[in-house]
Amino acid sequence: MRKVQLIGPFSQLLPMTSLPVKGALKDEQLKIIEKGGVLVSEGKIVAVGIFEDLKNQATDIHFIEGKSVCLPGFVDSHTHICFAGSRARDYAYRNAGKTYLEIAKAGGGIWDTVTQTRKASQESLEKGIIERSESHLANGVTTLEVKSGYGLSVEEELKMLRAIKQANSKTKVDLIATCLAAHIKPKDWSQDKEYLDEIANNLFPLLKSENLTLRVDAFVEESAFSMEEIKPYFQKAKDMGFDITVHADQFTTGGSQVAVDFGAISADHLEASTEKEIQILAQSNTIATALPGASLGLGCDFTPARKILDAGGALSIASDHNPGSAPMGDLLTQASILGTFEKLSNAEVLSGITFRAAAALNLSDRGKTARGCLADLVVFPTDNYQEITYHQGQMKPIQVWKKGQPISQNQ
Ligand code: NIG
Ligand code: FE
Repeated sequence: MRKVQLIGPFSQLLPMTSLPVKGALKDEQLKIIEKGGVLVSEGKIVAVGIFEDLKNQATDIHFIEGKSVCLPGFVDSHTHICFAGSRARDYAYRNAGKTYLEIAKAGGGIWDTVTQTRKASQESLEKGIIERSESHLANGVTTLEVKSGYGLSVEEELKMLRAIKQANSKTKVDLIATCLAAHIKPKDWSQDKEYLDEIANNLFPLLKSENLTLRVDAFVEESAFSMEEIKPYFQKAKDMGFDITVHADQFTTGGSQVAVDFGAISADHLEASTEKEIQILAQSNTIATALPGASLGLGCDFTPARKILDAGGALSIASDHNPGSAPMGDLLTQASILGTFEKLSNAEVLSGITFRAAAALNLSDRGKTARGCLADLVVFPTDNYQEITYHQGQMKPIQVWKKGQPISQNQ
């Protein structure tokens, strides 16, 4: 007989369903099932409703004792957790008054991590990804995007993407890989050859044949790649069927226009976006991704999340976890803090780390607790969902479920 497990009863179950991907949200729009339960079979959700009403369909029951709020497992749609080394020195320099760009020009910044990551073996990178993804999982993140971008050559980017693929097969978190070979111009690259052509011609086919990723990202910025440089690169990626995502408008504008022109799934950062870029994004299907961890790490403005939502845009919130701009890597803390500075409702913050973040990865089978979705759940020790953002990440989950399996360190 097929095993059908009922999990519950939860004081409140917020399925995050029946909400639009785009636009502002009020907390009154949140559906709340009191004394709710979730029926799970073979890693997927079979039914969601009132615990007592689902009992007769269950072959066994996992009882939740005490106060509990159940949300869909969180989705972190933008990270760089495949890296070696630390940039604590950069952080201290920044806090002593040097800017991110000055540090990069003086030999610190992204190139420092490239140097360290190139020295690391694929196995040690894999180990680092697993450790970091498990700490995200304990905080309720059940799907994590992971970028390459600290290799900056065909071989070194392959090493990173192979490490991500191996780590994905060994960790319970779903890792969604993205090729960010267009992160910055490699300092050791001969100027008479086109780096981006080399990547498109020699790396893109291998990404397909080795099944390493379906996604291509680029950092569109004065200090990285200009709008004009990146267009032929994105065109080749698009022609080969890759989804596009862009590091856009972090320090200067332009990236969000490229993102929309190429039908990118998401445009991420947007700290420098003005009214013009907000309107361009809001009128498109490209998801705007705020990265409050980068604002906190660099000590700069937050993405204008309120304005993006009010203009009708879609907002994902991600950690950008990386050794340089965003070393903290705590998604719930960062999303809660973004909420206080940008005046976001709980519905907007929670949507930004669940189904709207899933949409930023082109995934429709997660980020909501609904029949047919993955049984990825996060459970908090409270009977009022408002307590979760109120504690700004300090209320930790008491349970996390990944594809219907409880995660051992929280049990
Ligand atoms: O998203 N902006 C470009 N890339 C990363 C920073 C990576 C790093 O500093 O190592 C970001 O913030
Ligand atoms: Fe990033």
